Amino acid sequence: LDDLLAEGVSGRRVLVRADLNVPLDKQTGAITDDGRIRAVLPTLGALVQAGAKVVVCSHLGRPKGAPDPQFSLRPVAGRLGELLGAPVHFATDTVGDSARSTVEGLADGQAALLENLRFNKGETSKDDAERGAFADQLAAFAEAYVDDAFGAVHRKHASVYDVPARLPHVAGRLVLREVEVLGKLTGEPERPYVVVLGGSKVSDKLAVIEALLPKVDRLLIGGGMCFTFLKAQGHEVGTSLLEEEMVETCGNLLARSEGKIMLPVDVVVADAFAPDAAHDVVRADGIPSHRLGLDIGPETVAGFSAALKDAAGGGPGGARTIFWNGPMGVFEMPAFAHGTRGVAEAIAKADAFTVVGGGDSAAAVRALGLDESSFGHISTGGGASLEYLEGKTLPGIAALED
Ligand code: 3PG
Repeated sequence: LDDLLAEGVSGRRVLVRADLNVPLDKQTGAITDDGRIRAVLPTLGALVQAGAKVVVCSHLGRPKGAPDPQFSLRPVAGRLGELLGAPVHFATDTVGDSARSTVEGLADGQAALLENLRFNKGETSKDDAERGAFADQLAAFAEAYVDDAFGAVHRKHASVYDVPARLPHVAGRLVLREVEVLGKLTGEPERPYVVVLGGSKVSDKLAVIEALLPKVDRLLIGGGMCFTFLKAQGHEVGTSLLEEEMVETCGNLLARSEGKIMLPVDVVVADAFAPDAAHDVVRADGIPSHRLGLDIGPETVAGFSAALKDAAGGGPGGARTIFWNGPMGVFEMPAFAHGTRGVAEAIAKADAFTVVGGGDSAAAVRALGLDESSFGHISTGGGASLEYLEGKTLPGIAALED
């Protein structure tokens, strides 16, 4: 971005791809976590200050290539304007009449947000020509392109991959920072290096577990995915989340992990997936057949916290690098938030370089009212940060490096 600003952007139209895919309340449609909007303010603020005509585009949710009001970016335009301290014009389509007239009407130092990119088939199409045609329309709005959508750099989508081939292109401040920070983890992270993984599905995390196991000193596993591992250890998991087809794979991982993987020793089980469901703490090898695990238990929180303090084993040797992705339980329900809170607090207190990756864990930090500044870096990328750590080539980053 500094290179582009140095050229001078006053009066020039700049297209910024942002990831404004924020969670919305299902009932009211209100934005429940505006972290991703805040994260692009340094880039947007710098462009507005420098007098650019800023055209912002983003996806929200997963609409199916046609307009769908529940995925409109309109509420995001309002919040973005509040945070930017200047109104953000909103185009009710992405590349149609409204977008054209909104972009043409921009004065120097003004910003506009286009409607959801994914209301157009071309955005996510696997067909190069279809994506390219949509990219042509987007690129026609601007003279330069800034990618600040770190959360979407792992997607080979028109706005991420094809537009930069059509315009002078640079990385925004958020993308640059994310790549710098996550690059420290893929390089030579200071040891001991501890990774804490949660979230619901093992299948989503398998590749990253494979990539990280040789690099880490400890891998602590909680969240819904821990039940498939507990099953692989031979325990019954009641009606907890279980990926039956992954049990064997998890067993193999445990066998190969040289004791690095730590699993819960106790869990909070409930009668139902509901905030007011009756619940108890039980041993991880004693989950009743009719109940489901919704959080890790207090002994596990203590064990995980101790492992962060004595990561090298034989202590004292606290973790020097920590990466955390995925909540430990259903933190949105207060009764099942203790595990996530306890582990997050232990990470925050550690004398280590700490990175929180993933939309859900970042949202948990904010929803639980934890001090964001006590973590080294809170990534805006969910899938993107995991794929980065796997060492994959990410289409959005490759397009900028070209
Ligand atoms: C995310 O939430 O991880 C990003 O916004 C990407 O969204 P997607 O998984 O729907 O592509």
